[in-house]
Amino acid sequence: MFRTTTTSVLASTARLLRQPLVSTSTPFQARFRNAAAATSTSRLFSISASALSPPPPPQHYNSTSAAKSTTQTRHPRVLVTGSLGQLGSGLVKELRSMYGNENVVASDIRKAPEEFMASGPFVYADVMNYGMLERIVVDWRIDWVVHYSALLSAVAEKNMALALSVNIAGFQNMLELAKVHRLRIYSPSTIGAFGPSTPKDNTPDLTIMRPNTIYGITKLHNELMGEYYREKFGVDFRSARYPGILSADTPPGGGTTDYAVDIFHHAVRHGHYDCFLSKDTRLPMMYLSDCIRGTVEHLTYPTPLPQCVYNLAAVSFTPAELAKEIQKHLPHFTISYPDPAHPDFRQAIADSWPASLDDSMARRDFGWKEEYGLEKMVKLMLDKIQAQVEAEKKNIGGSTNGPTSAAIAA
Ligand SMILES: NC(=O)c1ccc[n+]([C@@H]2O[C@H](COP(=O)([O-])OP(=O)(O)OC[C@H]3O[C@@H](n4cnc5c(N)ncnc54)[C@H](O)[C@@H]3O)[C@@H](O)[C@H]2O)c1
Repeated sequence: MFRTTTTSVLASTARLLRQPLVSTSTPFQARFRNAAAATSTSRLFSISASALSPPPPPQHYNSTSAAKSTTQTRHPRVLVTGSLGQLGSGLVKELRSMYGNENVVASDIRKAPEEFMASGPFVYADVMNYGMLERIVVDWRIDWVVHYSALLSAVAEKNMALALSVNIAGFQNMLELAKVHRLRIYSPSTIGAFGPSTPKDNTPDLTIMRPNTIYGITKLHNELMGEYYREKFGVDFRSARYPGILSADTPPGGGTTDYAVDIFHHAVRHGHYDCFLSKDTRLPMMYLSDCIRGTVEHLTYPTPLPQCVYNLAAVSFTPAELAKEIQKHLPHFTISYPDPAHPDFRQAIADSWPASLDDSMARRDFGWKEEYGLEKMVKLMLDKIQAQVEAEKKNIGGSTNGPTSAAIAA
């Protein structure tokens, strides 16, 4: 009853406040202004709760058929925030292949490359601006949101205020919209949500969580808020704690596990890598396509699952083990490590994270299983980066991802 009333009131407000919010508004100011306006206008305008009813249940993802069935009356419309990051563009591509280009609205605060713009709708969306997000949700009749906008561990540690705004306030805006407009919301968490007192090996879903990084604190906050919104308001909140993600085509965004991507670019281009982590730092990792598939399987599961938040794992390795695997293909590759007396600031972050995850609940509840182990992943990464380098040499263009400034700056 309360929810129906609130929904009608806020939806009415959304219609009244179609003008862009002034740039000086904070998201919370904007939100309160909307709510205040709603109170005074709710008698004049209302829309029925059915106008905001969820769409027919979507078909569950099936990796073999890519869920291209036509049996469904309407595909869900999905908004992806932070879609130009390391993980977003691959996910957008996969969702568009399932639901049609027009049903997946990509968004970010940066300019998208031409090819990306041509592949489907792309809009500017600053997650700190509630009014802007609500307008997109309403205008595009969004059903599901994949919330990828965030500042990652190393960047967040150096920009605390911005990390709190983007990671907490931005997420809160999206969660509130999920409540008001009955959206399914998928927002990943991270191994960084654990902390130094968490058991390090085979870390389970439920355990001690006392993160000591800004990134980890913001992500744990979000896990708890998502669970609270599901419990109190019935919001279909879904999250997985991703490990470090490896990809050859998209550069990492400034995380502590970025070394595991940088190492390949340096190995192929220069034959040597100066690792910023110590050689024995074991961390959980995953290849990008596994991450995308796991995310889609989780996102599209037809009913809410027993848990809001799941560990998602594939492999765990140390820099020394990764280097050894690379040397099987590039025998002359060498690697050096920091002087233990002068560790990089990311060493302390990595030391506070688990070495391996127990993801048996994800395997049990939505059938998660990785495809890429260390050997297969290393071969694929090297093949792809060698192909990029060849393409550069022939000057036939394409994106050539040497280590990016973002990765180096992290
Ligand atoms: N990549 C990993 O290894 C990894 C591991 C664990 C969890 N995750 C999580 O997965 C999600 C996606 O990660 P990613 O690696 O693609 O991150 P990324 O840093 O590569 O991309 C994040 C995107 O968010 C955008 N963004 C920043 N501020 C914004 C704002 N105010 N409004 C809208 N967009 C904004 C950035 O422009 C960027 O494109 C994040 O939530 C991250 O915490 C990633």
